[in-house]
Amino acid sequence: MTVRAAQYRWLRAFPWLWLVLAIPAVPMILGHALGGADAADLLHPSGEMSVRMMIVAMVAGPLGRLFGTRFRALRWLLARRRAFGVAAFGYALLHLVFYIFDMQTLKAMLDEIGAPGIWTGWLALVLMLPPAITSNEKAMRALKAGWKKVQWLVFPTALFTVIHWGLLFYEWGPALVHIAPVVLLHVALFVKSSLRKLRMSA
Ligand code: HEM
Repeated sequence: MTVRAAQYRWLRAFPWLWLVLAIPAVPMILGHALGGADAADLLHPSGEMSVRMMIVAMVAGPLGRLFGTRFRALRWLLARRRAFGVAAFGYALLHLVFYIFDMQTLKAMLDEIGAPGIWTGWLALVLMLPPAITSNEKAMRALKAGWKKVQWLVFPTALFTVIHWGLLFYEWGPALVHIAPVVLLHVALFVKSSLRKLRMSA
């Protein structure tokens, strides 16, 4: 192998996508570490980034089923959607860290855990854990048909995330706008399969 080819191999093997997905975390972490941003102020960007990564992971499948694999960008996304799901979990953990810093004591956290806007966040995080830790080839091979069932947990995760976001300030607009692409794509898939069944029975 030539030196040039070896250089390209290293470049191709480098986890660029993980690096890019981690970039939004840098100003949040540095902002807090250097004292410029309160943990409370970072709950919004970390939570929102987690939701956005989750939405990207969730739209890939329905887009693939609707349009097939004729678009290069869609093939790229389908091959990498698991990374977006894992990144969503990473940002949810960062969100939790900022929450812990903000609350400061376990007692303060336990005191408000019964609030609807809070326990729904905890539930979303717990539901996110199994799909996140099984988003890899090894788990896929080990779980076989069960893998899809574990990944299905992303739907209740999304539901409880929307409820968490909506109930925090009783303002549903931003949460619903974020989840809208997932809902609309599933409606489109339902319409497409109903039309196909109609055509077949005609
Ligand atoms: C460990 C469980 C969780 C707790 C205790 C928690 C707690 C909170 C709190 C206290 C806020 C209010 C921030 C503020 O005052 O501006 C917040 C906001 C938010 N959380 Fe969570 N959260 C949790 C899990 C999650 C998860 C798993 C997600 C997403 C997947 C999420 C998404 C959001 C979003 C998008 C906001 C922004 C609301 C806004 O400021 O407009 N949270 N969370």
